[in-house]
Amino acid sequence: MKILLLGAGGFIGVNMVERLLKDGAHDITAVDIEKTKLEELGALSNPRMTYLRLDIRRDNNALEEEVKKADVVVDLVAFANPALYVSDPLGTFQLNFIENLKIVDYCVKHQKRIVQFSTCEVYGVTAASVIGKDPKDMPCPFVEDETFLIMGPINAHRWIYASAKQLLERVLHAYGLQEGLNWSIIRPFNFIGPRIDYLPSEAAGNPRVFSHFMNALLYGTPMKLVDGGCNFRAYTYIDDAVDCIVRILENKGGVCDRQIFNIGKPDNELTIKELAYLMKEVFDEHFREEGDPEPEIVDVSAEEFYGKGYQDCDRRIADISKARTLLGWNPQYGTREVVYKTMEYFVDRFREKQRAAAAAPASANA
Ligand code: NAD
Ligand code: UGA
Repeated sequence: MKILLLGAGGFIGVNMVERLLKDGAHDITAVDIEKTKLEELGALSNPRMTYLRLDIRRDNNALEEEVKKADVVVDLVAFANPALYVSDPLGTFQLNFIENLKIVDYCVKHQKRIVQFSTCEVYGVTAASVIGKDPKDMPCPFVEDETFLIMGPINAHRWIYASAKQLLERVLHAYGLQEGLNWSIIRPFNFIGPRIDYLPSEAAGNPRVFSHFMNALLYGTPMKLVDGGCNFRAYTYIDDAVDCIVRILENKGGVCDRQIFNIGKPDNELTIKELAYLMKEVFDEHFREEGDPEPEIVDVSAEEFYGKGYQDCDRRIADISKARTLLGWNPQYGTREVVYKTMEYFVDRFREKQRAAAAAPASANA
């Protein structure tokens, strides 16, 4: 199968490339404006993968040509980081809806199957929080084809991300009904693992929470708990996630045709505060070396951390019975293992940097 992977240079993309190249069953055209992570993987010289530096906002003709040549188009391109939804809501809408819609239109025109990455954020907040109940006291698993999607008000512009993704899902569904488009939608629930984002002391930006807490452990910046870290997440290890994604791509027996899939690990639930303490504990137990910093854990308001317009998802539990039943998929990794394995990746890279700096001539360090 010829797979066109748009956004292949990002966190999920590069982990998919790694797995697909290992399997060796398919040819990949990897499109992204970034290639550092693909380069680090050694994928650029693999004969089963072609890298194209295309900007999906501008390189329309080249993009359409690639869609024509593919058997399946996988669309990962998006701003995928809450800080950006707050600081650049229009950019988020443009890329995550307008530009993504263009790809959908090419797939309609050339009758190609599309696997679209959406988000668990389309579910919004739990019904419990809307009626003033504690979300912990009510069952909340989100079911793909049943659960209502509850967004906050317009002035909480964080929701532009989820709204753009939701509208794209609705357009795909409508194209399926009216034009016969074959689509599958993936709603990821907080994947983490090697190559997620970057450490903010090493690159400019405001990444997702794991990278912030990892940065604190390695560089001594404070671990900031937004609004006390009271909200819940359930982290899914990237290898579990990719295993499910590959089953969806391969679509044996057409079981994924016009289906939405939650991909998550419901029993890995914890609060962000618990995540901070767990990360500290795992770091101290397995990775701490003499001279490493002891970060403090502090509370900050959402407005202080993100600016105006942020509102949080209180709780996100995936009902994964569809993926279990249709795909025979069963995620394996528990929370502590997910944290350990992701941390190992960051610590190894950091120690390598430390060693290189120590070995460099004194003049280079000056
Ligand atoms: P990511 O930011 O690591 O990857 C996105 C990639 O898109 C980046 O490599 C980026 O360079 C590329 N890109 C951005 N603009 C582009 C452009 N104009 N042209 C070409 N490439 C461009 O994000 P990710 O975590 O890998 O997420 C991938 C997808 O999955 C996104 O659609 C995201 O919304 C969705 N998602 C991810 C998670 C998760 O747990 N990581 C959860 C929910 C949804
Ligand atoms: C993110 C992105 O929206 C999407 O890419 C995706 O839809 C989703 O993850 C996902 O992975 O499923 P979110 O979980 O809110 O959403 O992203 P984080 O930035 O990692 O925030 C998680 C929680 O930690 C939030 O409550 C946030 O307020 C908190 N946080 C974040 C902190 O307490 N401290 C920080 O330093 C950073």
